[in-house]
Amino acid sequence: MILLPRAADELEIPFVASGGQADGRSLVASLGMGAAGMNMGTRFLVTKEAPVHQNVKEAVVAASELDTCLVMRPLRNTEPVLTTAPLSG
Ligand SMILES: Cc1cc2nc3c(=O)[nH]c(=O)nc-3n(C[C@H](O)[C@H](O)[C@H](O)COP(=O)(O)O)c2cc1C
Repeated sequence: MILLPRAADELEIPFVASGGQADGRSLVASLGMGAAGMNMGTRFLVTKEAPVHQNVKEAVVAASELDTCLVMRPLRNTEPVLTTAPLSG
């Protein structure tokens, strides 16, 4: 909500919104804030076409927004990933 209008003010080239984009509402919001389109990543992970194990797809679909944890923070490249049980053994 802050970066997209800022980018629209600064840039003279088209740009797309990325991160957390999931449906038509995301696209409308992105266009409304000045982006030329959106980049959708995680949602495509759970499509039939994606070469990802069915169990992973089902875990992602069953998860809520509270089921993520942040990684890579010390490297200043923070990413939210699905929280999973620690491996045993
Ligand atoms: C399975 C998967 C692998 C990804 N791998 C990379 C990567 O290697 N490097 C990178 O900069 N971004 C990577 N991304 C991030 C995407 O390029 C994109 O920016 C991001 O998924 C968009 O946010 P969203 O997943 O919330 O839609 C990956 C995303 C997914 C879902």
